[in-house]
Amino acid sequence: MNDKQLVAIEAAKLATNGMLIGLGTGSTANYFIEALAERQAKEGLNIQTVASSTISAIKAQNCGLALVTISQIKQLDLYVDGADEITPKLSLLKGRGQDLVMEKLLATAAKQFVVVADKSKLVSRIGEKFVIPIEVMPNAWQMVKQQLEKHGASGDIRLNAGQDNVAISAQGNYVLDMTFSASLNDKALNDLLNSIPGIVEHGVFYGLARQVLIADKGQIEVMSL
Ligand code: A5P
Repeated sequence: MNDKQLVAIEAAKLATNGMLIGLGTGSTANYFIEALAERQAKEGLNIQTVASSTISAIKAQNCGLALVTISQIKQLDLYVDGADEITPKLSLLKGRGQDLVMEKLLATAAKQFVVVADKSKLVSRIGEKFVIPIEVMPNAWQMVKQQLEKHGASGDIRLNAGQDNVAISAQGNYVLDMTFSASLNDKALNDLLNSIPGIVEHGVFYGLARQVLIADKGQIEVMSL
């Protein structure tokens, strides 16, 4: 069993009967979906789920989990998702998979948001290893990019996998992948990105995570605030 699977199985132990559970996106979230399905099959765990992406909904459906759509719910009991970067104060970078709007909605609406990851995701600051994904209204992408450049950012519009057109997010928007000065801390970055018109959502999850489960070589460490 690898570390991502180990930590996902641990998170699945948090599920109890009657819960509405949010399913993240990515390889670790996929292990979580499998672990929930296994508990449902073996223990008769009775839960409903809501997916943060079409790919996770397909996975959940194939595993036999009951799904509701996000438009049907006001809040959820538990949301479990991976992350691309995690700081010591539990700021996260997410959205590599272009579903950051749904991911942030579910993380915000959850009574409990639990992040699952292996040790490779630990960083000292947001943006240390990855560019910051910024989802923008298609018509506004050049204006937003210009505003970000005024604040010292560099980067460009994301292209699709074939590199022959721009990438389209799950919500029909464009994505800017930007790099910022290392002197901009997580809060300042979050505040800046929240303040620019035309930005639909961004991958900085500031003040949302309270609990992170990190697996490293078969051991699980709990980081919490
Ligand atoms: C998806 O948009 C991201 O926010 C994921 O949570 C992230 O990429 C984690 O992926 P892995 O679990 O595959 O590392």
